[in-house]
Amino acid sequence: MKKIGILFGQENTFPQAFVDRVNSKKENSIIAELAKINKVIQGEPTEYAVLIDRISQDIPFYRAYLKNAALSGTAVINNPFWWSADEKFFNNALTTRLGVPVPKTVLLPSNQHPPDTNEFSMRNLEYPLDWQGIFEYVGFPAFFKPFAGGGWKNVYKLDNADDFFKAYNETGQLVMMLQEAIDFTDYFRCYSIDRRDVRIMQYDPKQPHHLRYVKNPKPVEEKLLKTIEEYVLILNNALGYDFNTVEFAVRDGIPYAIDFCNPAPDADYHSVGEENFEWVVESAANMAIRKAKSHKDGVNNLTWGDFITSFTSGKKISPNKNKNE
Ligand SMILES: Nc1ncnc2c1ncn2[C@@H]1O[C@H](COP(=O)(O)OP(=O)(O)O)[C@@H](O)[C@H]1O
Ligand SMILES: [Mg+2]
Repeated sequence: MKKIGILFGQENTFPQAFVDRVNSKKENSIIAELAKINKVIQGEPTEYAVLIDRISQDIPFYRAYLKNAALSGTAVINNPFWWSADEKFFNNALTTRLGVPVPKTVLLPSNQHPPDTNEFSMRNLEYPLDWQGIFEYVGFPAFFKPFAGGGWKNVYKLDNADDFFKAYNETGQLVMMLQEAIDFTDYFRCYSIDRRDVRIMQYDPKQPHHLRYVKNPKPVEEKLLKTIEEYVLILNNALGYDFNTVEFAVRDGIPYAIDFCNPAPDADYHSVGEENFEWVVESAANMAIRKAKSHKDGVNNLTWGDFITSFTSGKKISPNKNKNE
């Protein structure tokens, strides 16, 4: 018997629908359930062949539990080690090597010293920073957001250097990045599941939350959709996410990757809508079943991205020419 579990937080629609969908397929010797955790002992296996993680970003205890589970062979989706290592600035940096357009982005030191540090802790940092050079590179308007954020928290849109310094003074100990604003005509949010199934959803970030997934989307050029699908797969193959969303802002026909570090993406019926919900439940259930079938007892069943498996073993990462240029 191979058991599939799902670990979740405050969401109420996706987890049970996922479990029901897996079980409704009546696969021989595969069952799914809402995961149960009790005693967590070092090196001891869990009862799960596959665990879908929807919440360890908020519950560090779960992240540690998942690493321990992976050691004993649980296929954890997404890979908890990579998820711990990754952040948005690195995502952007890697993307510059993949031929996928990204907005110009710089990393900035936190405005306040991190806890228990002072000016002596950061003596390698030149003062002042080359603000002129930074502003010239990024340009205004610009987005200013945490290098490891989510849920639109502490995201600013800024028009000039004065705005910037005001905002910077509000960001405390957060490490932030300043990013070229893409003045977009279209915006897409795309599910990527198992690095094979892609669902491109028109999304209007300027609307209130419950109206953002566009209900009756206008037709989009086939060529643009193909490019977006290709970019989604390139990004997730490089990063190694099996369940993610990638956002693109389209300017002058070119899709720029904006936010592609969403390893527990929104999958709530009430926000994504009926059709997207049906798609994500079905696709995630099929992925989990494939992972359960290919699961091998007692070995490491995690998956990794090309950045880890190829790029680190001597393969040169060189910028591809952007196909749209
Ligand atoms: N460089 C950018 N150009 C245009 N819009 C952006 C840019 N960065 C962020 N946004 C807008 O701000 C929203 C939130 O930013 P995002 O990077 O997705 O942060 P979070 O991870 O908190 O969701 C995006 O959905 C998009 O609408
Ligand atoms: Mg986002």
